[in-house]
Amino acid sequence: NLRNASSFLCLKKTSKYKTVRHFSVENKLVKDEKSEKFIPFLQRINLRRSEARRSIVVQVQSSQSFKELYAYCNSIGKIKYMFHYSVGIEPLHFIIVEFETDTDITNIKKSSIFVEGSLGLPTQSHFVWFRAAHKKLPKLKQIKSTCLQIENGTAIKEEEVINQMLSKSENISDQIKTLHEITKLNDVGTRLRFLTALQIEDAVNGMFPHAVAYPFGSSVNGYGKMGCDLDLFLKLAADKPNSENGRLVFHCKPLNGSERTMNQKYMETLGDLIYLFLPGCGQVRRILQARVPIVKYQQQLTDVECDVSMTNMSGVHMSDFLYIMGEQDDRVRPLIFAIRKWANIAGITNSSPGRWISNFSLTLLVLAFLQNPLSGKPVLPSLNKLSELSGPEDKFQLEDGTDVSFLRDIRKYKTKTKNTDSLEQLLKEFFEYYAHFDFENKAVCLNETVNVPKPEFSPMYIVNPLERGLNVSKNVSSDEVVRFKNEVRNAAWMLESQESKSTHWGLLSILQNKRTNSILQAVSAHSQQGRLVEVSTLFEREDEDNKKQNKRSNV
Ligand code: CTP
Ligand code: MG
Repeated sequence: NLRNASSFLCLKKTSKYKTVRHFSVENKLVKDEKSEKFIPFLQRINLRRSEARRSIVVQVQSSQSFKELYAYCNSIGKIKYMFHYSVGIEPLHFIIVEFETDTDITNIKKSSIFVEGSLGLPTQSHFVWFRAAHKKLPKLKQIKSTCLQIENGTAIKEEEVINQMLSKSENISDQIKTLHEITKLNDVGTRLRFLTALQIEDAVNGMFPHAVAYPFGSSVNGYGKMGCDLDLFLKLAADKPNSENGRLVFHCKPLNGSERTMNQKYMETLGDLIYLFLPGCGQVRRILQARVPIVKYQQQLTDVECDVSMTNMSGVHMSDFLYIMGEQDDRVRPLIFAIRKWANIAGITNSSPGRWISNFSLTLLVLAFLQNPLSGKPVLPSLNKLSELSGPEDKFQLEDGTDVSFLRDIRKYKTKTKNTDSLEQLLKEFFEYYAHFDFENKAVCLNETVNVPKPEFSPMYIVNPLERGLNVSKNVSSDEVVRFKNEVRNAAWMLESQESKSTHWGLLSILQNKRTNSILQAVSAHSQQGRLVEVSTLFEREDEDNKKQNKRSNV
């Protein structure tokens, strides 16, 4: 089933291309995770970038086109892997072809053409389509066997399928692990995001040969799910300009206004460039008044929604910090996936920006809890500890001079945690922890693993671990903090109050629609006061609340 992210086919090419082996995605993930060694974040980013550089995305008629495409491409360069994916309800089919060397891709590009009379500007990129052959095809039988994978990199698993799989788990800890395994961003999804980044990098490469488009955020920090957005930081210049040798110096255009004004202008131009010249890119929106101006767009050929910025590297270093936290202990990522999912269903987080808690803030809340759990046995170290252990290779500064040095190779952190709590215990403890957290007086701080007094009044204060003067959750309103506290209490209560396995047992009991949960909560509250209220009345109240909230979010 090509449209189902839960399965992929490994098409083992025999002379007749007929052997099709089916694996469950779980098998593959377990295998991949076991064989995967720790690779420092920036090194991993560079490996993925080089993989994207050696790849092309070919639009084809159907997945069956791989035979012909294989024969054609392999006559020009040596193929390493091919992956099929599809986009849309009436699916468009694509195959990612990764070649062995950079020379292969140069030859592929040289041999790719522009068709006369085709609409649009003749733009060269890694996105091509495979047209019907004019000549007789070579005999496909003679092609040696190789492994072609069909793994959907774009489809998001349906809720019903997720619920079914979770209901079959043994216990809550298994449910949390399964949720992580079946919803996390897969290899093809990652490849598509790096190919999307490469397109932006290539677009400015003539003027800025050192430009790098760094993916950051959930696409690369290990907390991304299938279909997650791509955050990109476009860095135009190299880290250290080569100023020592050479006497011929490039003329450069002087700044023509304040740094912020100039940045807004560059972003505006980048938006035009994406809109006018880059194939597959549409729905360009410029958000230039934000603290960090961004351009949003949709890359339709990779089915990726992008946010590009050019302001600073902080997001990239922050992603490195979140990445090593996830690598530090196997329980971190599954727990964060479960909590992010719960928060989304409970309406605590929301994909549109506003006065609610963002996924990023929520992730920091979970990490802070893991640094300082109620049991007193930390699962994760503080950022200060990692900064103390940083070596010369870990020294980095932001553009404004802020020091962001911390140990990047987590293998060098030798202290093992004494915390052996199961995922189920940690989840329950998380809810307990924040149900009693003193948001009025305390700030969450990942640098010290203690909760520090709030430096200023904000309903929720999470110290930005890298730029300590900033509050990551500055946007969060006091209503939302109250709602968060209510929902964590509610979730703790739901998890504790289950006696036997119902259909929606364990994790599923808190992943049901918010409406069902709050009705249950309200019924419980009313019945405790001896006031039984008809459920229909409660639904009506809930609807009114939702309408009000929607109105607010539209504004
Ligand atoms: N970021 C940051 N400081 C903030 C907000 C964001 O450093 N105040 C960085 C973080 O590295 C974060 C990234 O920008 O991971 C992207 O932010 P966002 O897209 O909001 O969060 P994601 O973690 O990508 O989550 P999502 O899946 O919701 O996109
Ligand atoms: Mg993001």
